[in-house]
Amino acid sequence: MRIDVVSIFPEYLAPLELSLIGKARQDGLLELNVHDLRTFTTDKHRTVDDTPYGGGAGMVMKPEPWAQALESIAGNAAVGAASQGVPAKKPVLIVPSPAGERFNQALAYELAEEEQLVFACGRYEGIDERVIEWAAEHFAVRPISLGDYVLNGGEVAVLAMVEAIGRLLPGVVGNPESLVEESHSDGLLEYPVYTKPSSWRDREVPAVLLSGNHGKIAQWRRHEQYRRTAERRPDLLAEFDAGGLTRADRAAFGELGYDVVDRQLRRRPDSGDPA
Ligand code: ADE
Repeated sequence: MRIDVVSIFPEYLAPLELSLIGKARQDGLLELNVHDLRTFTTDKHRTVDDTPYGGGAGMVMKPEPWAQALESIAGNAAVGAASQGVPAKKPVLIVPSPAGERFNQALAYELAEEEQLVFACGRYEGIDERVIEWAAEHFAVRPISLGDYVLNGGEVAVLAMVEAIGRLLPGVVGNPESLVEESHSDGLLEYPVYTKPSSWRDREVPAVLLSGNHGKIAQWRRHEQYRRTAERRPDLLAEFDAGGLTRADRAAFGELGYDVVDRQLRRRPDSGDPA
């Protein structure tokens, strides 16, 4: 995969040189280029923003530097595709914004399938909307939000998204099993984990984990996932496909106040506050 990030603070993206993502870059699993938007300005002051039409607080990012930056990246992508003799697929242009669709694990998996992602980090009040409209000629444009809160710019969102997407690329995480068992991979939160010593400050590791009974351990972990998800993120259970649950699984959900109706979990009306 190739990733291009455009920002007025390229240094903000330095953590992408570290840890698993840094290693993936060194190993050639991920090509990542950070571009300084100001290098695409033409005036002496390297201006990237101006006052908003219609008035209001703050500044808006000017269209010209963005068009120059994105045209240069799209041009490189087209030349790259032509040199390999493959038809140019539009790269995905991700515009981090609190006004975008919500980022989640399913979207991370979807984006990990792409050949090229371009991230346009807005600052101030955002980028002139015409850039987003025009960019659709060259890119598949996706405004994406990290969550329902406002950051100062797109850079922190890019750090999070590149890490979430990059770790799904083949070969980036040493043991792919760990991707299967983590939170959100199956629509549930992850079960709690423990390591040595088995007794610590009068707290014991749950006995079943020391039992060596793999079936029991798997069931305990699954039921802990149900309990945690019901307690912390009951909204996820509304989306959960309950069709394949065993009798013991259904009983575990029953204790948490949920019945299975038409493959869906339904909270029993008499079961009080969400667990
Ligand atoms: N830029 C500012 N706030 C953001 C958010 N919540 N998600 C993505 N990008 C942003």
